Amino acid sequence: LFNRNLLLAGVAMATVLGLGLDASAQEVIKFSHGVAPDTPKGKAAEYFKKRAEEILGDKVKVEIYPNSQLFDDNKVLSAILRGDVQFGAPALGKLNKWTKKLQIFDLPFLFKDMDAVSCFQDSDKGRGLFNSMTDKGMLGVSYWHNGLKQLSANTPLREPTDAKGLKFRIQTSDVLAAQFEAVGAVPQKMAFAETYTALQTGVVDGQENTWSNMYSQKFYEVQKYTTESNHGLLDYMVITSDKWWKGLDPEMRAGLTQAMDDATKYGNDLAAELNMEQREKTLQSGETELVELTDAQFKDWQSAMKPVWDQFSGEIGQDLIDAAAACNK
Ligand code: LMR
Repeated sequence: LFNRNLLLAGVAMATVLGLGLDASAQEVIKFSHGVAPDTPKGKAAEYFKKRAEEILGDKVKVEIYPNSQLFDDNKVLSAILRGDVQFGAPALGKLNKWTKKLQIFDLPFLFKDMDAVSCFQDSDKGRGLFNSMTDKGMLGVSYWHNGLKQLSANTPLREPTDAKGLKFRIQTSDVLAAQFEAVGAVPQKMAFAETYTALQTGVVDGQENTWSNMYSQKFYEVQKYTTESNHGLLDYMVITSDKWWKGLDPEMRAGLTQAMDDATKYGNDLAAELNMEQREKTLQSGETELVELTDAQFKDWQSAMKPVWDQFSGEIGQDLIDAAAACNK
């Protein structure tokens, strides 16, 4: 009798464990980011979820957390290392705490258009940067586009001297700080989610961002002028934990790789269109006036800001800068 009870208990235990195993066979993947769903990154993340769940079926459930509702960009990498989330996609320049090399993407006027950006990101040197943080436990799996940045303020910024003395909200990036100092402005590092209020209350006078980020955050309500300067890049690296990624079973990793490739293509094709559409909507609001630069004005901004390259070439590596600049065909 004793043995029979033991056996039954064993069977019951196995059933419980078995059920437990079935349930945990579903990999729950959390993707945390800091922008609105209706932006290039927001849409690419949604597409990744769709494709991963199509390819892997019940084996995977992807949860997307937009608008810094789970972690903001300064916290997401530690969260990835702890295993609280599996993916994040911070702007490239925000990764300078982990590697100085990725500062390259913040250099002002490095890329003349998004084709040049893709050319560098797709090159061996560009793809090599996916491994620039593996010593810290993080792996890059993809580059996602947003686009080129514009400037805004409550006074029209036509010449670099117009920015003198104004306070600009910047992302946590020393290159961006140097870029604004180069025109005599005062940079202030600040979380993206705090920017609207800071502009509204006058804590800062201006900011730089892409059309889609400015539109989705309604910066046009609190900035009278937007200068179409295309002076710098805002793109992302999708990051995961190197250990988690390499520990996945091969079928899971292959499925997620396929989903990531599909999302990258989808998002990167869509980014320019979405930015243009949101540029139109911004201007239609009638609340911010477009400042277009003449060729001469554009060149003045370039000559004022480009000396920043030399300030950071030691940390970044001149070979990387040369390779990126060579993509401007
Ligand atoms: C910003 O802080 O302005 C951007 O990095 C936000 C984003 O993720 O696009």
